Amino acid sequence: MKYIKKIDKFKLNIDKIKAEFLTIFYQMKSWSKDDPDLYDFNAICVNQKPNDPSSIAGGNIRGKYWTYPTSEWKEEERLVTIDESEYSEVCEPFKNTYIEEVYDLVKSEWKIGRMRFLMKPPRSCLSWHRDPEKRLHIPIITNPGCRMVIEDESYHMPADGSIYITDNTKYHNFFNGGEIDRLHLVSTLLK
Ligand SMILES: [Fe+2]
Repeated sequence: MKYIKKIDKFKLNIDKIKAEFLTIFYQMKSWSKDDPDLYDFNAICVNQKPNDPSSIAGGNIRGKYWTYPTSEWKEEERLVTIDESEYSEVCEPFKNTYIEEVYDLVKSEWKIGRMRFLMKPPRSCLSWHRDPEKRLHIPIITNPGCRMVIEDESYHMPADGSIYITDNTKYHNFFNGGEIDRLHLVSTLLK
């Protein structure tokens, strides 16, 4: 476990987060993406910059990362830098929910930027990439075929009410090798 740390200090109510999220998503009906052709990336933002809906749209849904796209073996930078620390307002659909309580709890313990629900469809994976910051994962819906690979190690994060800190500044990927959508609540961890 070189690149992942389990925090079991809190026992979050995963069933409650899941039920609230599904109710809210039923009203939204579609995932946010900066590119409608993207299959592997689907997000719903829990927080935003105060009074700035554009902060949860376009490239701000994903944010900057680096990847090795070709056989040239040359690292390339993609998308835009996000002012993570400015994400301080809970988005309207999550106000007065248990999800907001979880957001406040996480904020009381760590300095975080964006918090997003990230869905991965069955049989999908990401690019091999690194991010500017570490991440806090709260798995909500998962299956044995969901694994995060960081450098040379692979991990499954169970939806057990724990929080997992993943070192996304190292090269990584996530794949869902199951037959149901995977859902994690993910925060950017700031220094
Ligand atoms: Fe990443």
